Amino acid sequence: MSLILGIESSCDECSASVVRYHPAVQTPLRPSNVEVLSVATFSQVAIHRPYGGVVPEIASRNHLESINPMIDQAFKEAGVGPHDLDAIAVTNRPGLVGALLVGVSAAKALSYAFKKPLVAVHHLEGHASSLFLDQSAEAADLPLPLLLAIVSGGHTNLYVMKTPPELWPPDFLKRSLVGRSRDDAAGEAFDKTAKILGFPYPGGVWIDKIGKNGNPKTFDLPRALPQKSVFDFSFSGLKTAVSLTAEKLKKMGTLQENLPDLCASIQEAIVDALLRKIFLAARANQCRSLAVVGGVAANSRLRFRLENEWKSQGFEVPPFFPKMSYCTDNAAMIAAAGAFRFRQGHFLRESEMLTLNAIANPEI
Ligand code: KG4
Ligand code: ZN
Repeated sequence: MSLILGIESSCDECSASVVRYHPAVQTPLRPSNVEVLSVATFSQVAIHRPYGGVVPEIASRNHLESINPMIDQAFKEAGVGPHDLDAIAVTNRPGLVGALLVGVSAAKALSYAFKKPLVAVHHLEGHASSLFLDQSAEAADLPLPLLLAIVSGGHTNLYVMKTPPELWPPDFLKRSLVGRSRDDAAGEAFDKTAKILGFPYPGGVWIDKIGKNGNPKTFDLPRALPQKSVFDFSFSGLKTAVSLTAEKLKKMGTLQENLPDLCASIQEAIVDALLRKIFLAARANQCRSLAVVGGVAANSRLRFRLENEWKSQGFEVPPFFPKMSYCTDNAAMIAAAGAFRFRQGHFLRESEMLTLNAIANPEI
């Protein structure tokens, strides 16, 4: 068993978490071996809302103010202290560099003061690890290979996972990648189109909510990259189409009454694109199971359609999603990724830890 503190500050969530990891290399995957003892998160969403998006400088300043209270709260809720830890894990890439530096500095200070190994975590490895957080014992085993879709505000990536996380090679994000967005991420497509329609940031949840009362077939919006052999995405054309449609409706004075239908149509275009490429990539790689993680995994239409369509696509078990609270950015997923890396011996010891830096745009 290992006790790990995770720290996440790559964008607009400032989060600390303590998890207990029960090592077990399992094939098929049994997503139940990381026990979350605490998660303390301060979301800056309301602070950035007036600007219509995250302002990097404001994010760093707010992380500075909330990082220590979040770490204290995570220890308190878990009923442990820094002396009890086996390791400290922190997101050091990719993200807003000023925001990342706050978490990295806090982790380095704790690690140095309490002589604990330090694990540098790639944010996407954190999202991938959210699959293993606190799942009930009934969670279905996931036969490998697993098609993993990371669908967030910054990324839309498809991976084929052939091993359990304890055996993920250090470069698995590069090696297992089979598809990605060539421009905007799916979450970004939700947020940018929502902004065009006048919804507050982040708009994904508004499109989801308002679209529930609309007809997804009303507006014919583009689905890019129709080729069957391509597993990449492109969402920038959708933004332009929504902008033109909204403009036209505004001129006719009917935008407000059309909002539910327009939201439903936008959502359907994004979900259609996601499902199409997920299914194509899964079939081409003989995937036996499917998991979706990241903020957009919270989307109700995406969940509904996957839950209805997985069988016809040849998957052996239902699609797997992390708990809602682990879909958006949180430190528990970083602690889980850190636990797997720590177990593999990938950590910085006392003599090396002060060299750890934040990387805004790593190669992978
Ligand atoms: O994973 P995440 O918290 O942050 C990144 O790492 O980017 O994802 C945030 C994204 C935002 O774009 C947000 O609009 C989207 O997830 N999102 C949703 C929903 N809830 C969050 N998009 C569509 N439907 C939702 N219900
Ligand atoms: Zn994220």
